[in-house]
Amino acid sequence: MAKLAIIKLPDPILRKVSAPVERVDNEVRKLAADMLETMYAAPGVGLAAVQVGVPRRLIVLDTAKGENEPPRALVMINPEIVALGKEMREHEEGCLSIPDVRIDIERPSSATVRFLDREGKQQELAAEGLLATVVQHEIDHLNGRLIIDFLSRLKRDIIVRRFKKLAKETA
Ligand code: NI
Repeated sequence: MAKLAIIKLPDPILRKVSAPVERVDNEVRKLAADMLETMYAAPGVGLAAVQVGVPRRLIVLDTAKGENEPPRALVMINPEIVALGKEMREHEEGCLSIPDVRIDIERPSSATVRFLDREGKQQELAAEGLLATVVQHEIDHLNGRLIIDFLSRLKRDIIVRRFKKLAKETA
């Protein structure tokens, strides 16, 4: 396994719509394993492939740690939300591509997601609470959507400007 570099705002790749994974093969499984290692090291609770420079529909997540449970790694290939709950849940979200920014975001508190697992088998998971939030956050990444998009244009521009400046300074 190898730790990968996480791409940060304002890299335009983060705005790309990721393409479906066509075949679940060893290359995809290796990428998923590397992404999990990268996510745990960060540390974070979710990571989308586009955040490590691969615009494919693949996400990894593990929300167990945050709630004092044993680790439970999830790999979702071509994930698709098939149902959303009516109730809403607010959570202060962060993103490994936007360090040190936290935004209160309201999303449906439950979500049913259909995906392929590492064996290429179709699975369906009814997610609630933090897991439902993270699943929605990561699938947003696959569609080029970021947490700053939940802010007003003014607030969003302030953050983008800050990260552009930071990128210039560290280039
Ligand atoms: Ni994120």
